[in-house]
Amino acid sequence: MAGGRNAAIIGTGSVIPPRIVTNKDLEKYIQTSDEWIRERTGIHERRVVEDDIAASDIATQAGLLAMEKAGVSAEDLDLIIVSTVTPDMAFPSTACLVQNNIGAKNAAAFDLEAACSGFSYGMTIAKQFIETGTYTYILVIGVDILSKITNWRDRHTCILFGDGAGAAVLGPVNKGEGILATCLGADGSGGHVLKLPAGGSRMPASHETVEKKLHYIDMDGSEVFKFAVRIMASTTKEVLKKANISLEDIDLLIPHQANIRIIDGAIKRLGIDRDKVFINLHKYGNTSSASIPVALDEAIAEGRVKKGQIIVLAGFGAGLTWGSSVMKWV
Ligand code: UT7
Repeated sequence: MAGGRNAAIIGTGSVIPPRIVTNKDLEKYIQTSDEWIRERTGIHERRVVEDDIAASDIATQAGLLAMEKAGVSAEDLDLIIVSTVTPDMAFPSTACLVQNNIGAKNAAAFDLEAACSGFSYGMTIAKQFIETGTYTYILVIGVDILSKITNWRDRHTCILFGDGAGAAVLGPVNKGEGILATCLGADGSGGHVLKLPAGGSRMPASHETVEKKLHYIDMDGSEVFKFAVRIMASTTKEVLKKANISLEDIDLLIPHQANIRIIDGAIKRLGIDRDKVFINLHKYGNTSSASIPVALDEAIAEGRVKKGQIIVLAGFGAGLTWGSSVMKWV
């Protein structure tokens, strides 16, 4: 490609487990109500995997769907990046498990951990490899099975999360199209507001850590909330500025699906209408790394993403981390 090349998403896929847990189901074992959850979060139900399903299982399925859409075979893949906070195990990486499952024998593979911002981090890494000509086809997967690290007796967290996997194949396109710009950021000083305390080298698993329920998500919801509204708006502005695109030019904004009030707060700050924003959190809750790629795949299936349109992705997560990208859809 004369004059260099850009990277673009050339195929997507997603997997959402069939088992539905409604707000009414949650009412049976925690002090909550369908009304409270709908009003405070916008979530109606979430999906949860069966006990024998792990991240690599649904990541593999989502990856294969994305490859089929992209028309890219397993042998064509140069790299597999899996973003997850719920890998099958600490090592080998979930990306290596996926590589083996799909038979991508020419692909390097690694996991990255940026929580709900992970898909944006993965896309940004893939973009660099493709633009430099180092690699041609890269599979980026966001997958999380938060149901297995959620305390289903903690009403502050269990109402929010769900399981899922979303994938995208990235490949080369001409300059001026595909991914026009990305922005990543982190603020480790806020790490304590959203964490999984035990199971790492700081606090290895023991009877005591299990008894104290330290292997479950620990979150200061209102601190995450305030950060999220602010950062979703600022990262969107920053990425648009980098690409020299104005807010009015956005055809569709796909935000991290965490809470409808966070999305509304952010788009109010930006001055974007709700009809330009893709929302599916009422069906799936917050699926962490999977949230943005699942939403993107659904938006494409619903005909809301068309060639030539300006599509913006924006997310935030534990770390604290954030990431955004602006694409001219190919
Ligand atoms: O990917 C990032 C992941 N994390 C997030 O996105 C979390 C962001 N934060 C949030 O979405 C919201 O902060 C929550 C949905 C977690 C909480 O909503 P809130 O409007 O910030 O409620 P709150 O925590 O201020 O709680 C208000 C009241 C409290 O009552 P008191 O203590 O003031 O009497 C809570 O105890 O609502 C109570 N409450 C509940 N009531 C019914 C908290 N959770 C529930 C519940 N059902 N599930």
